Amino acid sequence: MKKVYFLLTIAALGINVHGQKTVDQKVAELLSKMTLEEKVGQMVQYSGFEYATGPQQSNSAAVLEEIKKGKVGSMLNVAGADETRAFQKLAQQSRLKIPLLFGQDVIHGYRTTFPVNLGQAASWDLAMIEKSERIAATEASAYGIHWTFAPMVDIARDPRWGRVMEGSGEDTYLGTQIGLARIKGFQGKGLGSLDAVMACAKHFAAYGAAVGGRDYNSVDMSLRQLNETYLPPFKAAAEAGVATFMNSFNDINGIPATANQYIQRELLKGKWNYKGFVVSDWGSIGEMIPHGYTKDANEAAEKAISGGSDMDMESRVYMAELPKLVKEGKIDVRLVDDAAGRILTKKFEMGLFDDPYRFSNEKRQKEQTDNPENRKFGREFGSKSIVLLKNKGNILPLSKNVKTVALIGPFGKETVANHGFWSIAFKDDNQRIISQFDGIKNQLGKNSTLLYAKGCNVDDQDKSMFAEAVETAKKADVVIMTLGEGHDMSGEAKSRSNIGFSGVQEDLLKEIAKTGKPVVLMINAGRPLIFNWAAENIPAITYNWWLGTEAGNSIADVLFGAVNPGGKLPMSFPRTEGQIPIYYNHYNTGRPAKNNTDRNYVSAYIDLDNDPKFPFGYGLSYTDFKYSDMVLSSTSLKGNQTLNISVTVSNTGKYDGEEVVQLYIRDLFGKVVRPVKELKGFQKIFIKKGESKKVDFKLTPEDLKFFDNDLNYDWESGEFDIMVGTNSQDVQTKRISWTK
Ligand code: NOJ
Repeated sequence: MKKVYFLLTIAALGINVHGQKTVDQKVAELLSKMTLEEKVGQMVQYSGFEYATGPQQSNSAAVLEEIKKGKVGSMLNVAGADETRAFQKLAQQSRLKIPLLFGQDVIHGYRTTFPVNLGQAASWDLAMIEKSERIAATEASAYGIHWTFAPMVDIARDPRWGRVMEGSGEDTYLGTQIGLARIKGFQGKGLGSLDAVMACAKHFAAYGAAVGGRDYNSVDMSLRQLNETYLPPFKAAAEAGVATFMNSFNDINGIPATANQYIQRELLKGKWNYKGFVVSDWGSIGEMIPHGYTKDANEAAEKAISGGSDMDMESRVYMAELPKLVKEGKIDVRLVDDAAGRILTKKFEMGLFDDPYRFSNEKRQKEQTDNPENRKFGREFGSKSIVLLKNKGNILPLSKNVKTVALIGPFGKETVANHGFWSIAFKDDNQRIISQFDGIKNQLGKNSTLLYAKGCNVDDQDKSMFAEAVETAKKADVVIMTLGEGHDMSGEAKSRSNIGFSGVQEDLLKEIAKTGKPVVLMINAGRPLIFNWAAENIPAITYNWWLGTEAGNSIADVLFGAVNPGGKLPMSFPRTEGQIPIYYNHYNTGRPAKNNTDRNYVSAYIDLDNDPKFPFGYGLSYTDFKYSDMVLSSTSLKGNQTLNISVTVSNTGKYDGEEVVQLYIRDLFGKVVRPVKELKGFQKIFIKKGESKKVDFKLTPEDLKFFDNDLNYDWESGEFDIMVGTNSQDVQTKRISWTK
């Protein structure tokens, strides 16, 4: 692990067969003209000054001067056709006129925001996810942005961690598929297209496994677990040609990811043969000092570059230390050439050497502001991300002709909050955001009335608005409550130890329920929350996440039945914080709990059920789906055969609807123990009421492979359970044997 892997991408100088220089040749030629400081300059990234997404060491005048001297390779948080042009002009004053790369956190949409990423994952709709990133890339590139710091492909099993909102949840297979869809969407027809942005697989690696769900905390896990659960989305991203990687703040088994030779040199740039570049996370090179891994900035720079970090985001350590380290012979200049070469390669691929201003275009920017087509898609995507958790007595969908509806709760008239965390606040914003109130009002019939009461604030103990809310509820035929956590209570540095409704919201809900009015509860959150009282006592519950620019319309489409919800949970929802970490693909243990009453000397809590409140993959519909018996092509397979699995799903209810059919397997015995279930496939299908559809899956030995403790990746002969169903708990099972 200690060994430094040199992976030089620099080709020999020369001319290719078509008489044109290849990118490798151009990079090599340019590097040969550059001074050491200029090469290191390419490896430096600063944040713009208007707003920062991390603790900034601002000295704007000095940064501008450094750009002119060719000592900066990239800026983040600089956006807009005019602003990017202004910065690019400074870079064009430098000796070699190397253009800047502009990076930005385009996480769930740009001008048009879409549901927070965990909500998008709940759609299980890969085509829509890809399209949302296509739109985000089109909008962002029109604002001069070249590079998004997305997708976040961290697997997370701990809802206390605030950044679960930015990922795809707990499952490696689902997370990998979604990550790939996002990369395809961002990078479109490929780097160099005017509407493509470079994607960034982050945070490499295991950031989602922070101990206790506390952001930036340590990660301690076996290399087998790391390789099996946390790394596959990254490996798939590398294979799919993601332009960049970002490493993570955490240490992995005592070595900060930023300097981690095992993951960055041995795996990423070694075995996976990755040719893009790796940017550090914000300040993470410098943070190796407080980590206790390096004694000072000099050592931090040395370890970071040896460990494979190509670009320094805001640590301001590379420029200060790397030239010295090279001159003293402590760092081989080939490491600097390799890192700078990787970065320059992307600038050539983006076409920035042909025209550094090609993305800074006011006309395109205008077209991509408040773009009606993008909004239309956002509305649809929002409604597809909603998960129906409960619908007792089929209260939903509501009739548009209900005489009086009351909307109650602190989020009802919010606008900006609907963006969710990780959206950019635009100074001169003319992008409309549809509040929940407006969305519902727009769809209610002419003779109906929509009342509103805030009821309480998001997160304090003030009950002074309760009385008005109760009076409002009393006047209504149906009450829609909108509760949850603030949009800024999940996201970076937003870990929570208590993941219930914040403040006095649950007390408000109880008061409203006492009125006896039918209540529909909409939950706004960036993570799974715990809401046992509501789950037991409120007849209809939708999980809305944060839905973006068109939130109100998306919500109303579901409430009034224009859209039949089909979302499914991408994370297990715990009953209490004491169950965390909780995930469906756990091991069986030597003493599995058989049920929730037998707790004696089994792996259980004496005071708590083992199963989640709502399982992974769960979500209802306004209609009913019935599964036929599944049919397997064989129950005894050999070698490289393929197992065909089919099941017919019938829509036996009253509405057309979508269902996510899920395929799981269990490897019954192995040289290391295997999870009780592993998702291996899913299909989202639309079935008209009264109709049926046959769904086919295939499995090959590739799907049976796992890592052993020596990190061999293979499958073993044995018995396997094949499971198909509507969520991770509600499945039908057939057993097969498969021999090598
Ligand atoms: C820190 C976050 O961890 C990372 O995801 C983000 O891209 C950077 N800040 C830049 O804002």
